Amino acid sequence: MLQATLLAQRGQRQAELALNRQTQLMAVVAHELRNPLMTLCTTATLLPRVAADKIARLLEIIERQTGRMSRVIGDLLDVSRVNAGKLRLEFGDVDIADVVEDSLVTCRHAMARHTQTLRLELPSPPGSIRGDAVRLTQILSNLLGNASKYTPAGGEIALVVQRMPDAMVFTVEDNGIGISPRALLEVFDPFVQEQHAVKFNGVGLGLGLAVVRELAEAHGGSVEASSAGLGQGSRFVLRIPIRDGRRWTEAS
Ligand SMILES: Nc1ncnc2c1ncn2[C@@H]1O[C@H](COP(=O)(O)OP(=O)(O)O)[C@@H](O)[C@H]1O
Ligand SMILES: [Mg+2]
Repeated sequence: MLQATLLAQRGQRQAELALNRQTQLMAVVAHELRNPLMTLCTTATLLPRVAADKIARLLEIIERQTGRMSRVIGDLLDVSRVNAGKLRLEFGDVDIADVVEDSLVTCRHAMARHTQTLRLELPSPPGSIRGDAVRLTQILSNLLGNASKYTPAGGEIALVVQRMPDAMVFTVEDNGIGISPRALLEVFDPFVQEQHAVKFNGVGLGLGLAVVRELAEAHGGSVEASSAGLGQGSRFVLRIPIRDGRRWTEAS
């Protein structure tokens, strides 16, 4: 009897915790969408009244903020797809140089704004791997976006791609705020943000790396984070296996 009461109490407590978490999440999602939306509203109001030479700047803001909103929505959809077991990849022959170039499109602007420099090293020739080009681009732009987001102005970011015998290895490294040993254990969990990171750059959704890990694993690959500690920069290593050419031809 006593045990039944204890179990019921525990169940109720868990339900309360889940509800609290859900409420918190809704607040974070609303916040993440409201900020760019407010900027868009202000920009749209200004647009008809500004001088012609200022229009390009406003259009740039619109592009950046709509991009931010669609990334939030994309991440939320990806997490729900993963939870529902509905994440599907479109496998094909992926050109490494193209994927790197496409993933830099979204991050170059942020890096330039923060006067960060980018070091890029590709194998020569870069070659190709089997994977989903859109998803691989998404993984790399998430890692590069984080590197820029969590590195102070003037910092350095590197993307090094190496062809190993059985895998293509992508290393994204920065000399930014770093990650504490405790936080390293959970950075890939959904909705996780380190306090240190929030102080540096405000609240985010904490979904990017969760999606990155799912997408890496869906490729049969892996992603690992390391950092020598707070203030010591961070390194993310993504491994995508190189499939045997013959097996691939048979499978496709
Ligand atoms: N390059 C990095 N340097 C320092 N911390 C990072 C880096 N990348 C990720 N993190 C930490 O991992 C957390 C989760 O990252 P992510 O899932 O992309 O969410 P978000 O970028 O929305 O915070 C971040 O909040 C931050 O604490
Ligand atoms: Mg992120």
